Amino acid sequence: MFRNLKAVGRILYGRNSFDQLGDVLGELRIEKDSYVLFLVDEYFQGKDFMKRIPLHTQDILKIIEVKDEPKTKTVDAIVAEVKSLRNGLPVSVVGIGGGSVMDYAKATRLMFTNEGSSSQYQGLDFIKNKGVHCTVIPTISGAGAEVSMTTVLTGPVKKLGIKGNFTPADQLVLDPALIASVPDPQRFYTAMDCYIHNIESRNGHRKTVMGDSLGTESLRLLEEIFLCNDSHSPENDEKLMIASYLGGLSLTYAEVGACHAISYGLATVTGIHHGLGNCVVFNQLEEFYPEGVKKFKEMMRINNIVLPTGVTANCTPEEIEQMIDVSLTLVFMWQHLCGPEWEKIITREKLRGLLLKM
Ligand SMILES: [Fe+2]
Repeated sequence: MFRNLKAVGRILYGRNSFDQLGDVLGELRIEKDSYVLFLVDEYFQGKDFMKRIPLHTQDILKIIEVKDEPKTKTVDAIVAEVKSLRNGLPVSVVGIGGGSVMDYAKATRLMFTNEGSSSQYQGLDFIKNKGVHCTVIPTISGAGAEVSMTTVLTGPVKKLGIKGNFTPADQLVLDPALIASVPDPQRFYTAMDCYIHNIESRNGHRKTVMGDSLGTESLRLLEEIFLCNDSHSPENDEKLMIASYLGGLSLTYAEVGACHAISYGLATVTGIHHGLGNCVVFNQLEEFYPEGVKKFKEMMRINNIVLPTGVTANCTPEEIEQMIDVSLTLVFMWQHLCGPEWEKIITREKLRGLLLKM
């Protein structure tokens, strides 16, 4: 069976296009008491950028902490709070920030129209009702959340996306000027999330011509950016934003693989941020992705990136086993990499050996 895919809705693209957000939201503000829910990355708190957000008096703006990966309980808390403050539903939930904030926006908007806790919907196609309108505006690029049909959440028992045709955003604003101030090495780690998506999607059984074509162009842009000596120029910001968009789209037509499966396990116990966690894991995966890891190490060298070591050094044996448990639940990722017989290749011993090297 082929999946009848839903992509992101409308796309406003160009340098300083953010200044048109007021017009875009204006089209949705039909009723007198309609309001917008803005979720804004804590990075912008107190910065001049806040004055550029087209905030009306009835709107709600929430600053979102991103130290931890997005949590189902935070999604549930935001929805409950907004419902207690306003009678109707927001005309749009706008996420301004990195992958975490965009994922919060994509998840929150679904939980206004679906009963219960967001943790009940982690997995594929559990969402029953269309969410409210959602706008995503990346201010750091790489995760691909701006275009993906997944919103990755950590719940009480698992880290897994709410995935399905109701998840992609309705409106995307791609303004390369917004990512200019992202500090290194965070910018590098998040960009490498995109690099890893592309390497994983092309190395596996679910590879398609569509996914591979989008991923190849995304990879070409990333290599242009990070194999040169001036990766942080305005021109490279724009290339990075587009690489992230294409890489995220590519995943819709393929799947992630070993790095994401292991890094989800690692994050569940250590709370390590997705971009950094992926870099720490990918650095040890020559066995699965020899060419990709070689080039990754070259990009780290050129950009003076030194990864943390001993990430699992203080973990108890039980915690290591818990990481393995989480990783092994991501069957679709392992099947993409190794095929239906994946369990013969991906043993607990192999995962334990890799985790202990990180
Ligand atoms: Fe990722």
